[in-house]
Amino acid sequence: MSLEIRDIYKHFGPVRASDGVSITIQEGSLHGILGENGAGKSTLMKILSGFYSADSGEVILNGDVLDLSSPADAIAAGIGMLHQDPLVFLPMTVLDNFALGSPGTVRLDRTEVRKELERVSSELGFEFDPSRLARSLTIGERQQLSITRLMWLGAKVLIFDEPTTGISATQRLQLFDTLRKLAEHGLIVLFVSHKLEEVEDLCDSVTVIRQGKVVYEAEMPVPAETLVEKMFGKVFVVQGREAVPLGQPVLRLANIDLKEDTTHLENLNLEVASGEVVGLAGLEGSGQRALLRACAGLLEPASGSLELDGVSLTKASYRGHLAAGVHYLPAGRLEEGLIEGISITEHLVLASDDSTFFIDWKAARKVAETEIEDYSIKGTPSSSAEDLSGGNQQRLLLSMIPDEVKLLLLEHPTRGLDVESAAYVWTRLLARRAEGTSVIFASADLDELLRYSDRIVVFFAGEVFAVRDASGTDGEELGYLIGGKERV
Ligand SMILES: Nc1ncnc2c1ncn2[C@@H]1O[C@H](COP(=O)(O)OP(=O)(O)O)[C@@H](O)[C@H]1O
Ligand SMILES: [Mg+2]
Repeated sequence: MSLEIRDIYKHFGPVRASDGVSITIQEGSLHGILGENGAGKSTLMKILSGFYSADSGEVILNGDVLDLSSPADAIAAGIGMLHQDPLVFLPMTVLDNFALGSPGTVRLDRTEVRKELERVSSELGFEFDPSRLARSLTIGERQQLSITRLMWLGAKVLIFDEPTTGISATQRLQLFDTLRKLAEHGLIVLFVSHKLEEVEDLCDSVTVIRQGKVVYEAEMPVPAETLVEKMFGKVFVVQGREAVPLGQPVLRLANIDLKEDTTHLENLNLEVASGEVVGLAGLEGSGQRALLRACAGLLEPASGSLELDGVSLTKASYRGHLAAGVHYLPAGRLEEGLIEGISITEHLVLASDDSTFFIDWKAARKVAETEIEDYSIKGTPSSSAEDLSGGNQQRLLLSMIPDEVKLLLLEHPTRGLDVESAAYVWTRLLARRAEGTSVIFASADLDELLRYSDRIVVFFAGEVFAVRDASGTDGEELGYLIGGKERV
């Protein structure tokens, strides 16, 4: 069996998302599709899986030219795709999700479907409670359910589009094991990622895509520098961190206890100096978010004290924290930081602390134009937040940070951003820090943590497991610490 993608073109207006792509992949390969955000990976995969139709070109599986007019056509031909957010119907049970689009025309009854679910999932090494609501599954479990369903439907080619976003490190290891097993069984597994290490860990061959074109194909392993150069078109020089003298302690957490969901942080002590950048590392749900939310006034400590510049904020509200000079940028840009249907101008008006009753819209538009210019936002004053790309949403959030901030709290400030936007975000943040603002940020990106932090606080299982000076540690040690082990 082989999959041949032949001369695929697809454009969106002026954007050539697929610009003449040809790739051939053999049976049993775990093949990486690598490229930075916006390179055209998802577009190509959506064409393969029948979600988009190509402007021209062919997809050939096992010698047959496929008609891929819909996802159902693709699945019938043996091509299934897991999307960035696994398509699972949340209010339905595991069993009902599995049964969606049962193979063949024969309708199976629930007992039979249940048996099939058990059979296929145990072959894959997964375990499900069929009556659980999909809503209560983790992203990792939703992926497992989607894989089980696609395998049951007879997939020969399985596409995983950025499958590690939003899953824990343990789930990632599990997923990688599953992908290896699928390839060993003769499937073609396409693993789409913009993360080099993942492709290095997992894939036995790779295609690098840049600006809609195949720019490189190779059997792995390939030196990382080569892949980076192909992805970005130039070699990245990592700049050393500029040492900034730290000022007086600004934030003081003393014997804080925090309880939220499954997180129970106990007896947490932390001082952050003015101009200091503290990175929070750890598996998702290990306590980093609870700490950020407590510092932002969104989670009241069960005990202990929180002081900013000598003033107690332990019992203060979110507004109280804002007024004291704390600013929080949450991870879900649209969900928590920006409002759908509201324009850039309106966001900036909402963010300004000018409390006059009448809004001078003409002046507001002017401000918006300046901010758009200053922060290189691709949009107009009247663009809605949801119409902006991720990088531009993050720029808008940055432009909304007031001038006088003592403590900036950020959750995954560059997650999902292309390299250029991520670098821009940090240029802005480091400029704040040079003015004396303290920065605390959570990240799942070791490189980002090591590059920008002065100190790194590692959380494990709801505890502060270790604190390290960023200059005295490395990715390997952080890897151990995040997993709850000291490096031996
Ligand atoms: N539905 C769409 N409408 C308009 N432009 C799109 C659409 N989907 C993708 N694009 C554009 O096509 C380019 C490639 O996007 P995509 O395939 O999602 O890249 P990747 O998955 O590599 O990040 C980007 O410039 C993106 O903005
Ligand atoms: Mg994509």
